[in-house]
Amino acid sequence: MLKPGPIGIFDSGYGGLTILSEIQALMPQYDYCYLGDNSRAPYGSRSFEVVYEFTKQAVETLFDMGCNLVILACNTASAKALRTIQQNDLPRINPEKRVLGVIRPTAEIIGSVTKSRHVGILGTAGTIQSESYPIEINKLFPDIKVTGEACPMWVPLVENREYESEGADYFIRKDLNNILSKDPRIDTLILGCTHYPLLLDKIRKFLPRGVSALSQGEYIARSLQDYLRRHPEMDDVCTKGGVSRYFTTESSQKFSDAATIFLNKEIEVDHITLE
Ligand code: DGL
Repeated sequence: MLKPGPIGIFDSGYGGLTILSEIQALMPQYDYCYLGDNSRAPYGSRSFEVVYEFTKQAVETLFDMGCNLVILACNTASAKALRTIQQNDLPRINPEKRVLGVIRPTAEIIGSVTKSRHVGILGTAGTIQSESYPIEINKLFPDIKVTGEACPMWVPLVENREYESEGADYFIRKDLNNILSKDPRIDTLILGCTHYPLLLDKIRKFLPRGVSALSQGEYIARSLQDYLRRHPEMDDVCTKGGVSRYFTTESSQKFSDAATIFLNKEIEVDHITLE
């Protein structure tokens, strides 16, 4: 029997706060436990083995904190670690607990969004190289052509608070031009990285008419709500006190300062070590 606990949200750093804030807005009654592995971020250019090992440590830590359901809010971790954790680790750790990612819920909605059936994915090098998006989208919608573009400068622009600078304009325009020249029929660009919603205004500024940018947060939130409706046994063991706690592997002060950009409010943060 599982003991009731908060819902765990994991990201390599701050980016998952864009997902958490949408989840909190839709389901404020639940308790959440956010863990950012900031001391080892970014994950985007790390190998499969390293992302898997770090993500597994984070999931086990959130389980130890009492979470029964953990969302990998990080696209890179969802792409490189989710399946192995679900198939190899969960049965050993606790077969009743669950880990979910962000790629499948994003893939599920794309069929109803694109009209041209040509879709682009913007993400970290790890997410794009894993091919997880084309695989998941084509399982559900084999007629959709999926083109990926790694945008390795976008996360550092956000992390370094340079996302409103002219430097950001340069990289955003360059990467958008690249993907749209690979497939000019794209009508929908998925922001396949948790940091990118902070660049949304700029991205929209450079997109040609008829191409829209799709931010994941609200879809992930709705998909989680739907999951809990379909799995009352899991919903029953998710505590509902409306309390969120935040943990980082970096300095708690640094995290709480940066978190205000993502959440638009002050939060209290605790330091934690993953091993
Ligand atoms: N959170 C990661 C993602 O969504 C991006 C940041 C990183 O590279 O660690 O892919």
